[in-house]
Amino acid sequence: MSHSMSTKDQLLARIADRSAVIGVVGLGYVGLPLALEFVHAGFRVIGYDVSERVVDLLMSGQSHIQDIPGAQVQQAVANGTFVATTLENRLGECDAISIAVPTPLSKTRDPDMAFVLSAADAIARQAHPGLCVVLESTTYPGTTRELLQPRLEAKGLTVGQDVFVAFSPERVDPGNPVYHTKNTPKVVGGITPACVEVATALYASCIDTVVPVSSPESAELVKLLENTFRAVNIGLVNEIAIVCDKLGVNVWEVIDAAATKPFGFMKFTPGPGIGGHCIPLDPHYLAWKMRTLNYKTRFIDLASEINSHMPEWVVQKVADALNEARKAVRGSRVLVLGVAYKRDIDDVRESPALDVIRLLEERGAHVEFHDPFVTEFREDGHVRKGVELSDEMLRWADAVVIVTDHKNVDYQRVVDHATLLVDTRNVTASLTPGRARIVPLASGSRSLGASA
Ligand SMILES: NC(=O)c1ccc[n+]([C@@H]2O[C@H](COP(=O)([O-])OP(=O)(O)OC[C@H]3O[C@@H](n4cnc5c(N)ncnc54)[C@H](O)[C@@H]3O)[C@@H](O)[C@H]2O)c1
Repeated sequence: MSHSMSTKDQLLARIADRSAVIGVVGLGYVGLPLALEFVHAGFRVIGYDVSERVVDLLMSGQSHIQDIPGAQVQQAVANGTFVATTLENRLGECDAISIAVPTPLSKTRDPDMAFVLSAADAIARQAHPGLCVVLESTTYPGTTRELLQPRLEAKGLTVGQDVFVAFSPERVDPGNPVYHTKNTPKVVGGITPACVEVATALYASCIDTVVPVSSPESAELVKLLENTFRAVNIGLVNEIAIVCDKLGVNVWEVIDAAATKPFGFMKFTPGPGIGGHCIPLDPHYLAWKMRTLNYKTRFIDLASEINSHMPEWVVQKVADALNEARKAVRGSRVLVLGVAYKRDIDDVRESPALDVIRLLEERGAHVEFHDPFVTEFREDGHVRKGVELSDEMLRWADAVVIVTDHKNVDYQRVVDHATLLVDTRNVTASLTPGRARIVPLASGSRSLGASA
């Protein structure tokens, strides 16, 4: 390589000929798929994680992420293109490092930047000229410039000349059969034009479409807009469900009919609330940032208020339905179907099902759950085990509540054997009526074919 080449051009050349070594910090839902995408693009990848458990699992050729088959990890480990490690100094070998560590909220709903800060400190300790660092963790606008950049500069490295710093939001949608890391366009914003150029080249090596924007703040805000858009629209349809309930109109019919409009409408469906690591939390990063600027993000607050109220709405539906059957919640047996935060995945983080279970138990119900993807989960230090879905279990329950509509559950069987069924997802609408009395999320019954 010629000595007249700038640090940037040398790095671009190493990316182009795949001799660059790629680091990924944090090997979870986001980091592991990304690491393997770089492996597929022909790079050698070092995955750094602080969890011995995660590293040991990966090095033994197993995967802890549902969308990633163990065989894929095993192959990359076996042929030496991927190594997982807890040794920070291995980051010193890397030419480019992507950061995918958690960005949770504190108890008071403020950003908890501890993971990002410790990752940034680790990278800064190992940094050298000719390194590109990209933050992928969802965060408030300003993080890359205010937290990451100064840590690298403290090492005497000039951003845009010696090191290249960018933000690129992760858009992975766990369980999505169509869109994966590779075919989901990736937005990139760099501190300087050279930073965005290097980061764009890096991701273009393994992702079909890269979308450069003019600054890290822009890229940071893109992610928050996307997830706030979802939170607000889900809040809107949840409110429409409550409106329909009070008007005696079938909310599903209204939404399906509105969705026939070929332009200017996007279908969202109501439900028992929102969950997961992203939609309930990410908007609060923006709300927090704006509070520091003395601005109140009203849409975010309102959507959060409506969405977080939905578990109570569901529990009230259960209580009302039991009441109709001359039963009290206290002492009633309730079977919750589906505890994952959304269909066909095994993740219970922030799941509204946990709130539904807690609220029912607070009222004295005996609650069991069944979830084909979640056999047990840990909450507040104790483990809750699920039950098998049997005809006896369905008949055991005074009420069955469908919280998550996994595709591989036989809902006809549920309708045939349950006594009382609260269906928050409208999965029973097209089934043959059975033994169960069905109560929808919003009980408007005035639709074609239903007697008013
Ligand atoms: N899961 C998703 O669907 C999704 C989608 C888009 C964006 N995101 C964002 O991506 C980021 C990562 O989320 P995730 O779901 O992959 O988290 P995760 O909890 O699945 O994985 C994070 C990993 O980082 C490791 N880690 C923590 N601190 C570390 C440190 N200092 N150094 C090295 N490793 C460390 C943890 O041990 C863990 O294995 C978050 O900001 C999240 O908001 C997640």
